[in-house]
Amino acid sequence: SERTYIMVKTVLTLVLFQPDGVQRGLVGNIISRFEQRGFKLVALKLVHATPEHLEKHYADLKGKPFFPSLIKYMASGPVVGMVWEGLDAVKTGRAMLGATNPLASAPGTIRGDFALAVGRNICHGSDSVENAEKEIQLWFPEGIVQYTADQAKWIFE
Ligand code: GTP
Ligand code: MG
Repeated sequence: SERTYIMVKTVLTLVLFQPDGVQRGLVGNIISRFEQRGFKLVALKLVHATPEHLEKHYADLKGKPFFPSLIKYMASGPVVGMVWEGLDAVKTGRAMLGATNPLASAPGTIRGDFALAVGRNICHGSDSVENAEKEIQLWFPEGIVQYTADQAKWIFE
């Protein structure tokens, strides 16, 4: 998913709010963080996902002891999927989320500011450009939205 945006090579990443992020009213705060960082929102959706859909999303984790509870939990309420475009968005997005275990997440990160338990860590972020492409296709088969964000000239040199 390499793209060119104001002469800068950008990538897309999928950020997915888990049900705790939605129920705790953290969606706006976290969207703000990505906006403020300079990422561009190119897709956004609230859905109550099925276990079958979530098993595809978390296919890499099949076989982990927490896999069944993760799927059950993720299917227990609505989730919000978003696609962000930006410079090194996969890596930077994960840095903004913080470590998987919130107890190890630095303050200032999303998990470091809002979470304590690994199974209630607010948000998912794609872990590679390749996985981001697959996840975006899974959550947004209709595609992302193309538009120019005029603030880009103030974010990039
Ligand atoms: P994501 O961005 O959510 O994919 O997190 P990650 O890439 O840092 O971790 P990973 O893909 O290994 O795990 C996916 C999700 O499963 C985590 O965000 C947690 O919500 C959950 N998870 C991971 N490890 C554990 C665990 O040991 N116990 C429980 N209960 N949940 C876990
Ligand atoms: Mg992961």
